[in-house]
Amino acid sequence: MTHTITVIPGDGIGAEVIPAAVAALEALDLPLAFQHAEAGFGTFERGGEALPAATIAACAASDAVLFGATGSPMTRVPGYRSPILVLRRRFDLYANLRPALGVGIDLLVVRENTEGLYSGRERLEDGGATAIAERVITARASERIARIACEAAQRRRGRLTVVHKANVLKETCGLFRRAALEVAAGYPDLAVDELLIDAAAMWLARDPGRFDVIVTTNLFGDILSDLAAGMAGGLGLAASANVGDGRLALFEPVHGSAPDIAGQGTADPRAAILSAALLLDHLGYAAEGERLRRAAYATPHTGDTGATARAVIAALGEAAP
Ligand code: IPM
Ligand code: MN
Repeated sequence: MTHTITVIPGDGIGAEVIPAAVAALEALDLPLAFQHAEAGFGTFERGGEALPAATIAACAASDAVLFGATGSPMTRVPGYRSPILVLRRRFDLYANLRPALGVGIDLLVVRENTEGLYSGRERLEDGGATAIAERVITARASERIARIACEAAQRRRGRLTVVHKANVLKETCGLFRRAALEVAAGYPDLAVDELLIDAAAMWLARDPGRFDVIVTTNLFGDILSDLAAGMAGGLGLAASANVGDGRLALFEPVHGSAPDIAGQGTADPRAAILSAALLLDHLGYAAEGERLRRAAYATPHTGDTGATARAVIAALGEAAP
């Protein structure tokens, strides 16, 4: 059976690293069919739409999406919504899985991916002198993300840390905390603890080895996963999987479009390649996923996107079991 993969390079270095990841997947000789689709700020500027209906249809008709990055402007651009945020919600990809692996660190951030401060409920009052953001937390989303985290912890080292700020955000984080701890109580084989987000950041910087699986809300997970990536050797190696209960899953490097280095051919393609490895795991090609992962970790980034990608592909032969 052939698996259809929708490839969305997007903006900035997305367009440089995603072809490298596709080349690595092609080198494995699996029954994968690639279809290319457009999204991002460039797409928006050209056609007035950041995420064209054709792209959504392509995603809906595929088994997985390999996504590069899209620009996210710092100010409101009328009509523009970040395609990655729309895709996560559109396909209910409620779990964002972000592994961080390096010297002294081997953890997985499980980030809630559909609500929290990403609910899009922001408004101005007082003629613009007051800005308000609503942080939506539901029992349903908290429970299902906790379940994903517990199952991941069972497959890993059996430790789960629930991260929140329930001492201040008594209702929203209070609900998340209760729901997550309650779900975790149904997994008696796990060692479960909880940390406030500030303390979690401190312990992550000081002793990352104490963590196995971290489960947390959307924005906290966004921040902690970058911190974990920084501890594990940088964003050049940070991959992620966006998954839900449906067939479709989306895989993307954590690094974003990096406009400061875009167009130079210097971006590290390994985060995109490692995201492709997660994609292979998801499609049931765990052995090939592991082979690709080993090759990527065994290959240093030379500073040239194409050269590093070719070296990873060359290393695939050596990484064969
Ligand atoms: C990420 C990114 C996105 C996010 C941006 C680009 C909207 O930072 O995937 O971590 O905040 O989720
Ligand atoms: Mn981020």
